[in-house]
Amino acid sequence: MNFEIKSLSVASAALLKADGLIVLLSDSYKSSKDELLSVVDHALKAGDFETKAGKSLSLYRAAGFSASRVVFAGVGEGSTKDVRQAMASAMGHFKGTKAKQLVVCFADTPTDQALKSVVTGAAEASYVYTTTKSKPEGRELQRVLVGVPKLGKLKSVLDSQAATVAGVEFAKEWANRPANYATPTLLADAARSLVKFPKIKCQVLGPKEVEKLKMGAFMAVAQGSEQPLQFIVLRYEGAAKSQAPTVLVGKGITFDCGGVSIKPAAEMDEMKYDMCGAASVLGVFRALGELSPAINVIGLIPACENLVNGRAVKPGDVVTSMSGQTIEILNTDAEGRLVLCDALTYAERFKPRAVIDIATLTGACVVALGAVRSGLFSNDEGLVAGLSEAGANSSDPCWRMPLDDEYAEGLKTNFADVANVAGRAGGAVTAAKFLQRFTAKFPWAHLDIAGTAWKSGAAKGATGRPVPLLMAYLTGTGK
Ligand code: BES
Ligand code: MN
Ligand code: ZN
Repeated sequence: MNFEIKSLSVASAALLKADGLIVLLSDSYKSSKDELLSVVDHALKAGDFETKAGKSLSLYRAAGFSASRVVFAGVGEGSTKDVRQAMASAMGHFKGTKAKQLVVCFADTPTDQALKSVVTGAAEASYVYTTTKSKPEGRELQRVLVGVPKLGKLKSVLDSQAATVAGVEFAKEWANRPANYATPTLLADAARSLVKFPKIKCQVLGPKEVEKLKMGAFMAVAQGSEQPLQFIVLRYEGAAKSQAPTVLVGKGITFDCGGVSIKPAAEMDEMKYDMCGAASVLGVFRALGELSPAINVIGLIPACENLVNGRAVKPGDVVTSMSGQTIEILNTDAEGRLVLCDALTYAERFKPRAVIDIATLTGACVVALGAVRSGLFSNDEGLVAGLSEAGANSSDPCWRMPLDDEYAEGLKTNFADVANVAGRAGGAVTAAKFLQRFTAKFPWAHLDIAGTAWKSGAAKGATGRPVPLLMAYLTGTGK
C-alpha cells in the first residue's frame, strides 16, 4: 500500500479526485465558516453526530465533494486510542465499496501518534489474506493520501510508519500461511527475497552446515521431520562496520505438534503460528529495507518443524548444545528453547550491543498476560527501559517479568547440565531462565509473544506483533 502526506485544508481535500474522503474532527471543532462543513454543523446541533471517537457521519455524492463517499469521523481528544477507534469506524463505511484511493484529512494538526494511528488503521482495516484462496479477492485499497493543515516534521513520521506497516504485513503474510505453504525451506526463500533491498544480505545454512556448527539442540528438534532444517542469517548494514549490531533471534518452528510429547488435537492448527517470532524478524528486515536507517542489525532464524517419526527425539534423550552444555529433553514440546539456545550461542560471533529473541514460547505466558502485552524478560535495565518505552509508543506494549535465580531450581537434573522443562508453575519464567544460560556474553532480552502474535476464533489471524515495538526500539522513536 502506498501512503503520502500533503498540506491540505478540508476545502482543498474536498476537491481531490478519490474514491473516498475521511475528515477527522476533534473535540476542539465547534463550527466552520466553510459552506462544505455546514452539514456537520447541522448534525452536531441536532445531536446526530458527535466529535467523540468512534462517531461518524457519512455522505454519498454530496454537493461540493469530488469523492463519491465522504465520512466525517470524530477523534475526540485525538489520542492514539481515539484515532484508532475513529479509523476503525470510518473505514467501516468503505467495506465492500471497492474504494482504491482514499484521502484522510485532519481538520487540526495531528500529533505524531495520531498520524501513526491513521496509517495503521487504514492498513489494518483493508488487509486481506489471499495466498491459499482459489478465487482470491485481494485488497482493494491501494493509496492513502493524508492531509494535514501544516506538514512540519510529519513527513518523516509518515514514512517510518509506512515502512513499519509494510513490515507488519510481511510478518502477517508469512505467519498466516499454513505450514505446508511455509516450510523451513520456503521461509528461507522469503528471507532471500529481501536482498532486493540494497543494504540487506542473506545467508542460509542447511543441515550439513548446522551439524558442523554442533547445534545439537536445534538438530534434535528437527530430526523428527522430513523437512530439512534451515538456519537463516540476515544482515542489515546501514552503518559503519565498526558499529556493533543488534541481533534479533526469531523462533521459527513452522509447525509444532509437540513431538513425542504430542499436543491435544483441539486448536493444534494454530501451531502453524509457532514461527511468528521468525515472521517478526522477517517483517523488521522488510521495514528496515524500506526505511534505510543508519544502524546495523543481524537477524537469526532457526527454522524447522517439531513433528514425530521413527527418528524423533524422545523424552529423556540428552543432547549437546552448541555451547557445550548438555540438555536432558524431558518434554519434546518444550522445543522452542532448544532451537533458540543454539541460535543465541551463534549470536556471540557478532559481538552484539544487544541480543533480543522473539518467540511464541509458552502457553504459560498467555495465561499470565493474555493478548494485550508480550512478556519481556531481561536483566539489562537499559534494554528493559528501551523496549518498554518502544512498546508503549508503538501501541505494541510489553510487560517486564522476573528472572530470579530461584526460578531455575526446577531445571536441575541428575543426567545432564540442565533439563528443558521445570514443571507447570511459572512456566514462562522457567523457559526464560533456560534461555538465560546461553546469554552470558551479551546484554539480552527475551520477548514471549505467545499471547500477542495471533488472534484465535472468528477473527483468527496474525497480528504482525512485535514488529512495531522492534522498529520503534531500533530506530529510536521509542526514546
Ligand atoms: N509453541 C508452544 C507454546 C504455545 C502454546 C504458544 C500455546 C501459544 C499457544 C511451545 O512450544 C510449547 O509447546 N510450550 C509448552 C512448554 C511446556 C511443555 C513446558 C507449553 O507452553 O505448554
Ligand atoms: Mn512446543
Ligand atoms: Zn513451540
